[in-house]
Amino acid sequence: MSRWLLSLLEVNNLRVVYANGHEALKSVSLQAEAGEIVAIIGRSGAGKSTLLRCIDGLQKPTEGSIVLDGETITTLSEGQLRRTRRKIGFIWQEYNLVDRLPALTNVLTGRLGYSGDFASLLGYFGRSHREIALRNLERVNLYDKALQRADRLSGGEKQRVSIARAISQEPTILLADEPVASLDPELAAQVMSDLARVAREDQVLTLINIHHVELAREFADRIIGIAKGEVIYDGPPSGLSETVLDRVYRFDRAPRAA
Ligand SMILES: Nc1ncnc2c1ncn2[C@@H]1O[C@H](COP(=O)(O)OP(=O)(O)OP(=O)(O)O)[C@@H](O)[C@H]1O
Ligand SMILES: [Mg+2]
Repeated sequence: MSRWLLSLLEVNNLRVVYANGHEALKSVSLQAEAGEIVAIIGRSGAGKSTLLRCIDGLQKPTEGSIVLDGETITTLSEGQLRRTRRKIGFIWQEYNLVDRLPALTNVLTGRLGYSGDFASLLGYFGRSHREIALRNLERVNLYDKALQRADRLSGGEKQRVSIARAISQEPTILLADEPVASLDPELAAQVMSDLARVAREDQVLTLINIHHVELAREFADRIIGIAKGEVIYDGPPSGLSETVLDRVYRFDRAPRAA
């Protein structure tokens, strides 16, 4: 794409220094477009969550800017940010569902940005919202569990509810921070597959922090490797050679025999 046009997401020279003086991100720049599924890999402490929190507006960078859909989110006031965050779906490792509410009601909370309040979501005017929520539960194969309380669902089901909730927001961007880290390997692959499928169908730009390199290779179009707050690799899964992985995970990997 021509650099004369803004990308959907523009991260420019992002630097984050925490209050204790730790520099979590050095000078991160990246651009991404609608429909891309980007996996962000890197060892623990590399700065992956810090990056997603900056894009979500939760963390103000020390330097640099983030432009999402033409709007500079790094300089928005709290009120403006609240409105803009309707466009940002977030999927957490630990789901963040309301335990005692049914799956469907949890998914409906994804529609709150489009409805004045919760009462109108649940009442007569909520019909179209309910239809969207039910359709999205069906897309992650959970239609049958729509009325089950969230705390009675398995881990994989909970994360699929959270995917349905995020996609019901009809977001411009979907951010997922270690979405499958609490699931066993087989479930992790199924949930990643669901997430990638709905994101592709809706052409939503999706950034996924993930530790499993094999899942990143299988489900993402593009991989960004971060080490010590810097982008070490940004390209297709096919370019993720052993040499690149060594640089990304330099301090984690067992030394090779000479
Ligand atoms: N609020 C904070 N104050 C000080 N340092 C912080 C704060 N939050 C994170 N850090 C530090 O910043 C660095 C990057 O943290 P971050 O959570 O972004 O890493 P990560 O790549 O997501 O790691 P993980 O894979 O373990 O989730 C780490 O060294 C972390 O200890
Ligand atoms: Mg993290």
